[in-house]
Amino acid sequence: MKIKIKCPSIIKGEIEISGSKNACLPIIAASLLSKEEITLYNVPLITDVISMIRILDDLGVSVNYNYVESKLVIRANRIKKDLDSCFVSKLRASYYLISPLIHRKNNFATLYPGGCNFGKRPIDFHLKLYKQMGLDITEKEKIYFKKRKLRPINYTFSTVTVGGTINAILSTVLIKGKTTLSNIAIEPEVIDVIHFLQSMGAKIQFIDKRSIVIEGVKELHKTTYSIMPDRIEAGSYMFLAMAKPNSQIKINKVNVSHLENVIEVINKLGGEITIINDSMEIKSPENIKNINISTGPYPYFPTDLQPILSTVLLNGNDTSKINETIYPSRNSHIKELSKMKASIEMNQGLITINPSPLISGMVQANDLRCGFAMIVAGVISGKQIIINQAEYIFRGYDDIMGKLCKIGIKCKKE
Ligand code: EPU
Repeated sequence: MKIKIKCPSIIKGEIEISGSKNACLPIIAASLLSKEEITLYNVPLITDVISMIRILDDLGVSVNYNYVESKLVIRANRIKKDLDSCFVSKLRASYYLISPLIHRKNNFATLYPGGCNFGKRPIDFHLKLYKQMGLDITEKEKIYFKKRKLRPINYTFSTVTVGGTINAILSTVLIKGKTTLSNIAIEPEVIDVIHFLQSMGAKIQFIDKRSIVIEGVKELHKTTYSIMPDRIEAGSYMFLAMAKPNSQIKINKVNVSHLENVIEVINKLGGEITIINDSMEIKSPENIKNINISTGPYPYFPTDLQPILSTVLLNGNDTSKINETIYPSRNSHIKELSKMKASIEMNQGLITINPSPLISGMVQANDLRCGFAMIVAGVISGKQIIINQAEYIFRGYDDIMGKLCKIGIKCKKE
């Protein structure tokens, strides 16, 4: 699918942020830990969520999505054995379904998870954890799991991992005894998953900033839960506002405390932010200042906003540098920006961005965040651009066309 973006001379308007993709996907998977009915609100209408729903459907789980109310009702009183739906290998987050299956089945198989491709994305920590808690694992064309007696674990992550932390929590909440996990990820999405599990009766407690103790419970019960706002979606629009001088947008339904790292960067760029409860007004300056910054695990600047910030910095008044520490090969936007005559390069994770006027043209959304970065690039160019493979953008940005239109950016499917 192609989309055509045409930009006005100024960005102005008001939008609402949807529920978080990266919190919603593991929470949907975690719903299968209970046989009772789970009701979720603020579920975004994005294709990654639709793919997850299709996997649940293929597993024989009852699932009902009312997208008008952003409400998803799940009841997993029965569940089929294997994760062999074709959507499993399209979605990174499909690996969160392994954890409930461990509790519901004695042996099962799964296809390998998919997801955006920015270099190696191993799942070795996940498998190591499962082995420690009592599973035999065989990796062939699929991954085969065989359950022995499950036991609690004491595990310290050598690298901070969002998915590893969430899977460790999901797989141990029902194991009798005390599990201790250290050096865990504390991204707001991880905390949202913990709050959701606690609302189902899970016993999870922080013992220091990056360590938790999980006291296994016998079963988890029904709950109604509202997914946190998507901080990466909010950050994406905050940076989009910075792509045109003297623009002003209002972003509603955000959790401001999750966005401190982004607010700090916007201020350094010369932008102005006014916060009123769960709304934010962003005003862009006449000239963007250059910055030097590193991505890192929360509370540091998120890797998911790196491609978008890199693009905004093409408008900077001098050379900027971003050190990408999470995915040193997350560079799919750089090739595309070069097609628009951007002076930007990445060397062993270090991105150097020189101020560059961009020309219009045809680019490609190589993955989700690269796709949004191309929208920003189109806005900077001030002309019209065509983005190929735009389906990637729909994987994670709810109502992208409607929201762009609300802030004055014309967007048409070709
Ligand atoms: N890692 C390993 N082994 C593992 C797991 C991770 O070496 O078993 C490494 C990764 O290669 C990476 C680092 O640990 O260098 C951190 O990766 P992490 O596990 O935190 O990433 P993830 O859980 O696979 C989630 C988000 C990503 C986001 C990263 C980092 C979801 C579904 N995905 O991925 O989101 O970039 O955390 O914050 O939650 C996106 O939304 O565009 C996106 C890619």
